[in-house]
Amino acid sequence: MHRIKDPALAPHGERRIGWALAEMPVLRGLGERFAREKPLAGVRVSACLHVTAETANLVRTLQAGGAAVRLCASNPLSTQDDVAAALAVNSGVPVFASRGESIEQYYADIDLALDHGPQLTLDDGADLVGRLHAARSDLLPGVLGGMEETTTGVMRLRAMARDGALRYAVIAVNDAASKHLFDNRYGTGQSTIDGIVRATNILLAGRAFTVVGYGWCGRGIAMRARGMGASVIVAEVDALRALEAVMDGYRVMPLIEAARISDFIVTATGDRNVVGAPHLQIAKDGCVLANSGHFNVEIDLAALEALAVSKSRPRENVEEYRLRDGRRLCLLAEGRLVNLAAAEGHPSAVMDMSFANQALCAELLAQRRGALASGVHGVPPEIDREVARLKLAALGIAIDTLTAEQRAYLASWREGT
Ligand SMILES: NC(=O)c1ccc[n+]([C@@H]2O[C@H](COP(=O)([O-])OP(=O)(O)OC[C@H]3O[C@@H](n4cnc5c(N)ncnc54)[C@H](O)[C@@H]3O)[C@@H](O)[C@H]2O)c1
Repeated sequence: MHRIKDPALAPHGERRIGWALAEMPVLRGLGERFAREKPLAGVRVSACLHVTAETANLVRTLQAGGAAVRLCASNPLSTQDDVAAALAVNSGVPVFASRGESIEQYYADIDLALDHGPQLTLDDGADLVGRLHAARSDLLPGVLGGMEETTTGVMRLRAMARDGALRYAVIAVNDAASKHLFDNRYGTGQSTIDGIVRATNILLAGRAFTVVGYGWCGRGIAMRARGMGASVIVAEVDALRALEAVMDGYRVMPLIEAARISDFIVTATGDRNVVGAPHLQIAKDGCVLANSGHFNVEIDLAALEALAVSKSRPRENVEEYRLRDGRRLCLLAEGRLVNLAAAEGHPSAVMDMSFANQALCAELLAQRRGALASGVHGVPPEIDREVARLKLAALGIAIDTLTAEQRAYLASWREGT
């Protein structure tokens, strides 16, 4: 049972999943242990994740542990149809996803993923949890817990918890240091540049490249754009983060000033209408607009449509809007996550860590059998550290250990000058 674009794409997807797995040694090791120990025996999992080669390896890890996994997409434009086919055909996973699906189909697919009555939920952006609470609340009593992959999802879950609406325990995988320090920064950094380059093939060197939001994703994007020779500008609303960007060597200014001179504007804020009508009205001719934040709300698409007199599609994933005064603005990937819609998402080596956290948290929630209180929980520090330890071991990197004397010294207050 599945809803995918084309089962014939399975062999191609299988090759890409295998290529990704070679870069995911931590998850591979967990898969081997899960196959022996079956910590998820019989557990029904509903996963709403970007359907990528890395996600396929996570799904297979959970399957190896004994779970029955259903998978739907966490974005209408991020599904890799060949991967969906490989999972459905070769692993018997009920996958409900196809690239470019309508919003109605997107939610219908979430419903299909929920239909088996999940005991664990896996989300990237909290759309599945939202749907479960709003439209499928009859299934809530059977849920033991869930995990959330991204910053925006964690924000939505915290809002639900604040309102007393969240009815089970969700672990904020995003907030693990071994997730956001690496995935959000190095993963989004590399893959966002990858998406922009694949979509446009425009030289970055010497161009003014504005990053809006200097959080974990923004830091990564700015760092990698600088590495390509761009002249990077940062726009922020938070004084500490703006100051950090200044001391990291970037020009910092309000977006309304940056927009006049930017060849690229890339958003990574998790906020809405960050690039709005006032910015679009003065943006430089030819400016490329892209978003790497979770939802397609960061660039005001309605304002862009309203300002445009015509629209064309010079390349796949590029929409060129011509404005009344003749300026052109180029929107990438319909304002959706550019790294997933115009490229392949994060490199596998970084998803290795994020998804190792997911697998270990799934194991934890299955062991606790609903004992965690409703609300948003952090990843236990021992899991966070274990993921880093396993990654270092896989990389063949040894580190030092504290001596007994050092441990005692660090724990004491009696010794001073
Ligand atoms: N593209 C991907 O694959 C990917 C990966 C991880 C996270 N994300 C998403 O990216 C977004 C950012 O995540 P993060 O972990 O960097 O979050 P973060 O909270 O660390 O950073 C967001 C930053 O944006 C700033 N900001 C908010 N509104 C702003 C505005 N109007 N103008 C300028 N700056 C503003 C905040 O002050 C903050 O510094 C989230 O939506 C997250 O879910 C995407």
